[in-house]
Amino acid sequence: MIFEVVTLFPEMFSSVTGASIIGKAQEKGALQVYLTDPRSFTTDKHHSVDDTPYGGGAGMVMRPDPLVAAIEAIELARGPAHKILLTPTGASLTQPTVLRLAKVPRLMLVCGRYEGMDERVRGFCDEELSIGDYVLTGGELAAMVVIDAVARRLPGVLGNADSAVDESFEAGLLEHPQYTRPALFRGAAVPEALLSGNHARIRRWRRLQSLERTRDRRPDLFAQLALTAEDRAMLDGEEP
Ligand code: ADE
Repeated sequence: MIFEVVTLFPEMFSSVTGASIIGKAQEKGALQVYLTDPRSFTTDKHHSVDDTPYGGGAGMVMRPDPLVAAIEAIELARGPAHKILLTPTGASLTQPTVLRLAKVPRLMLVCGRYEGMDERVRGFCDEELSIGDYVLTGGELAAMVVIDAVARRLPGVLGNADSAVDESFEAGLLEHPQYTRPALFRGAAVPEALLSGNHARIRRWRRLQSLERTRDRRPDLFAQLALTAEDRAMLDGEEP
């Protein structure tokens, strides 16, 4: 998977690309990140990437020409990409979107800065994503979130092939609680079902925990679930 990032602050990305799992994935060749600064595509002597808004008002707006020149140069050099504009007005990033994006061979992440971006840039992108209902100073942190969430779904990135299967949101459920040693920590014991060695019982315990957590913490997700008869029975407290 190739990530193409269009950003005025390429140095911000070293925290993601140089470290930990994503850094190792790059070394293994599972993914590659190219950083392109739209400032290198400015044509005026001051290398301006922003300007005052038409119609007046406070703040500066990113000009469309360096951004679009960067997008076009990247595609000319390395081929067409699925282009995503990071903006607080985009659709919310969710795990189903992450799984869809993990199948795309080349993703371009276009980061805005300043108070806004010229509206005409949108026409050069395929979709717009937001990472949450709050406003960041730029799209860079949002792009890093997309890279991290998508990269960990690529083959060969996580060590254990199963470690991404059971997790939160994958089936529209929050993940069940996890425990490791010690069996007793500051008076809190590991739930007995997990020590039982009975795989069917462990599976049921985990499923019930996921269902209860989702019901209590994320009623919006819970309302979307198609519960099985076994799920309903467990939630009603019936013994198997
Ligand atoms: N740029 C500024 N805020 C953002 C957000 N919440 N999501 C994506 N890009 C952004």
